[in-house]
This record gives sequence, C-alpha cells and structure tokens, in this order.
Amino acid sequence: MRLIIYTGKGGTGKTVTSCCTAIKLAEKEYRTLVVSSDPAHTLGDAFKLSDHNKQDSIESNKHDSIESSQMRKISPNLHALQVDPIIEIKEQYSDILTYMASIFSSRGVDEPLAYEIAMMPGMTQLFSLLKIEQLIHTKAYDAIVLDMPASGEALRYLYFPKLAGAIGKKLSGLMGAFSGFSKMFQAFSGISLPNGVLQYEQELFDRLDILSDIIRDNNVTSLRLVANPDSFSIENAKRALMSASLYGINVDLAVVNKIIPSSALGENSGEYFTKLTEFQQTKLEEARANFYPLPIKEVPLHSVELAGVEMLRSNANLMFGDSDPADIYYQGKPFSIVQQDSNRLQFAVKVPFTTEKDLEITRFGSEVILKIRSATGYIVNVIPLPVITYNMEILEATVNNNVLDIIFEKN
Ligand SMILES: Nc1ncnc2c1ncn2[C@@H]1O[C@H](COP(=O)(O)OP(=O)(O)O)[C@@H](O)[C@H]1O
Ligand SMILES: [Mg+2]
Repeated sequence: MRLIIYTGKGGTGKTVTSCCTAIKLAEKEYRTLVVSSDPAHTLGDAFKLSDHNKQDSIESNKHDSIESSQMRKISPNLHALQVDPIIEIKEQYSDILTYMASIFSSRGVDEPLAYEIAMMPGMTQLFSLLKIEQLIHTKAYDAIVLDMPASGEALRYLYFPKLAGAIGKKLSGLMGAFSGFSKMFQAFSGISLPNGVLQYEQELFDRLDILSDIIRDNNVTSLRLVANPDSFSIENAKRALMSASLYGINVDLAVVNKIIPSSALGENSGEYFTKLTEFQQTKLEEARANFYPLPIKEVPLHSVELAGVEMLRSNANLMFGDSDPADIYYQGKPFSIVQQDSNRLQFAVKVPFTTEKDLEITRFGSEVILKIRSATGYIVNVIPLPVITYNMEILEATVNNNVLDIIFEKN
C-alpha cells in the first residue's frame, strides 16, 4: 500500500500532477484512487468529467464500501474521489461540534458565534485526512494519491494527529475516569454530556493515531513537492520539505512544473519571451539547488491548459516514462536538528555545495540565505529555520561534504 501526497503553492499544478501520477499507477495495475479535498471540484475539471458520466459511475460504484456520490470511476483501475469537507464534518464530527458549541453558548455566547469558535482551525483538512484513514482501512486500493490544497498550513495538520491524539487521549481518559463527570458538568453548565460523545471522541483519537502512523511510515507514505520556476513557489515547497524532515515524513521527489521549454525559443521569439525563458532557467537552477538531494522531475509548460485524460496521460509519460510512480525515489532526511546542550543547537542541512568558500551566508528573519556565484549570476539557496531557532543567534556556519552545519545559541 502506498500513500502519495502532493503539496505546494496554489496553482503550481498539484491537482494535475496528482491525476497524472494516478493515471500512471493505474496503468501499472495498481488499484488506484486519487483524492482531492479542494473546495472547487478540481478533479472533475482536471479529468474533464461531465455530469453525464457521473450518473453512470455512481451506478457502477454502488458496491463500493465507501458510499459517496463523489466517487467517480475514470478507468478500470482508477477512481477519483472529491472529498467534501462539509459532508465529512457533518458525518464525523457534528455531535462533538454541537456539544462544544452548547458549552460556549451556555457561557453567554450567541449560538452562531459559539459554532464558529467550536470549529477549530484546520478541522476541514483534518477530516479530509480522516477520510484517507477510512479508505485505507477498506484495503480496496494499492495506491492512494492525495492532492493537498495549499501547502504550509495544510501540511501542519498532517502532523497534528499525533499531537492532538496524544493530548486528546489523556483528556478523554481523564474524563472517563471521572465517572460523575457529566453530572458535575451538568451542575455548573446545565448541559449534560450527550450519550456517546466520550466513546466517539475516543474512537476519533484512535483513528488519528492510526492516520499519523501511516503518514510517518516512510515505506508507505511519500510527500512530494510541486513548484514552478519562480522564487515564491520554490520557497514555499522548501519550507514544506523542512517541516516534513523534522516530523519524520519522507519527501521523495520534487516536481518543477510549467517550465517553458528552451526548444520553444526561435529566431523570432522577441526580447520579452527570451528574457522570460532565461529567467525560468535561472529559477530552475535555483530549484535544483534548493531541493537537493531530492530527485527532480521537470515538466514543461504546455501550450494549452493541461486537462483531460488523454493529455494527462501523455504528460504522465513525460514525467514518469516507464518508471513506476509507486517507487520511493528518495529516502533520507535533508534536515536534522541535534540539541547540543540546553543553550546550543546544531541544525544540519544537506546542500549542493562542498565547501563554504565563495558562499555568502546571511540570516534573514526565519530563513538563512545562501548565495553562490554561478555562470548566470547568483544561485540562492533558502534554508527555512525551525521555530526553535527564532530566539537564537547563529554562532557559526560551516559547509563540509555537502552538509551545512549551523550552530545556534540562545541569546
Ligand atoms: N505543465 C502544464 N502545462 C499547462 N498547463 C498546466 C500545467 N500544469 C498545470 N497546468 C494548468 O494550471 C492550472 C493549475 O493547475 P492545478 O493542478 O489546478 O494547480 P493546483 O492544484 O496546484 O492549484 C490548471 O488550469 C492546469 O490545467
Ligand atoms: Mg488543486
């Protein structure tokens, strides 16, 4: 079983890359599911599904153990699932939500506001992930490709389960131990704990735990980064790489999508187009340096919008050729943190440079910027710093054997 998650900045091509990967996996005869929880019906758009074949696919999917009108059959081995977070919350969370809202409203908060407060940030994301846990449980698929909307924050909720699970278990364990809890609670709020809420909560945390184990199992889950040849999307993906490294989630591939091919340049291209292409080549070089040591797939910008099964399939061939998208393309930790003592911390990052000679190292807020001169100008390597270093200073920074070692000290 493989869980492949694509993440990156909006518009970089996560959805189409997920679809291409899924098409290739299905060709390789994996029973494949591609899942998106984007609010817009992006999978339908990418595959160019009409509402007409929606009816057919619902009919043919009646036997599926996950009942959902959003499950569509694309080809014999390939299904696409558009998760509706609102439906998921309604089905999986509404008892707890109502209960929490009732606590707040008993404290004098208006009911609409009480619901807003009770809805914790990231809940919609979390329930999309819980859907994955449910799907894995059915054992109906060999490969699940997850298209994760807007990286950064969303990615955080991948790590959330373990923490929320651990805290929640303690809490609900405590609550359970209080046999008279609901009575006591009733006494001061006037609201009794609805039947089954505790039991349900416990189940929820158990599922979160399972989900977290799946995601941090490097033989099952791979996170893949999607960026374009521009600084913002590269930086965004780089931060995701750093966080994933720290949390023990394996990142095995970076996709740089929408590269204008040099072959598109002709004698009559004009200055604007030539400049843009050159700029992209610089950014591509920057991406290679920034995603080191991950393997990179470089995908051209097509002359028309990438959509529809046929076009996705030919793009999948460009990306993967004969190789198997279920392979683990890289395993390792590009970042690591070692606490040397209570004041000192060693932050090690794999970099594509062998020595710090000719390398300019500057800290800029929550990042360290490495600049190295290249034939075309400077190559910039952005090193996103972990939160723990925010109140620390850099004592020294050295590069040895493709590892940048930064020693931080508390000030
Ligand atoms: N390599 C490409 N060539 C041409 N169009 C592309 C390419 N990659 C993505 N697109 C188009 O760019 C838009 C955004 O892609 P999408 O996969 O929806 O991004 P995301 O899911 O990251 O927001 C879509 O219209 C898609 O068809
Ligand atoms: Mg998308």
